[in-house]
Amino acid sequence: MNIVVFASGAGSNAACLFRDGARGRFGGAKFFLVSDNPDSGALRAAREMGIESITFNPGAPGARISPDAAGRLLEALEKINPTLVVLAGFMRIMPSAIVRAFDGRMINLHPSLLPLYKGKDSIRRAFEAGEKITGCTVHYVSDELDGGKIIAQKPVEILPGDSVESLTQRVHAAEHELLGSVVEKLIIGREARL
Ligand code: GAR
Repeated sequence: MNIVVFASGAGSNAACLFRDGARGRFGGAKFFLVSDNPDSGALRAAREMGIESITFNPGAPGARISPDAAGRLLEALEKINPTLVVLAGFMRIMPSAIVRAFDGRMINLHPSLLPLYKGKDSIRRAFEAGEKITGCTVHYVSDELDGGKIIAQKPVEILPGDSVESLTQRVHAAEHELLGSVVEKLIIGREARL
């Protein structure tokens, strides 16, 4: 079984998955990293842990991926033939052709209790709105941004003395737990059915 993780930035969630994987949490699944950012922490973590990685040039501004880059990416993914694709801090919009090709096999981690605070800066927006509770969500990827079927959520209380930074730290800690447990359920569940 192959698990492909997409990440663009710090890569703390990707690193947790790689670490748990190395400890055997996901059976014998083999990890791959895909990143649009050659300077990402995710890529450094993958290198340090001996995880095969692919960096690609998105070929388009903002959050987009050009049709050419999408075609090359889809080809690379089809070669890997992943059981599961995990978007863990991937900051680009996944092209429709790739979403369709991995329908039901592609999940995304998002730092809010969806359907609240879709899109960017979700932790800050929840904090500034004066919410008492926020959290994180893992959901299947669909063509609607942050809109696919929800698999699991973990709430995080916003405390009176919190800052955006302290809240962000606790949301990240919750994400590390939530994502690992969802991947474990999906992978081990699938293994049991094989
Ligand atoms: C995580 O909080 C993840 O939920 C968020 O990016 C962060 C990545 O952290 N993803 C999104 O906002 C996607 N819409 P990490 O690089 O340390 O894993």
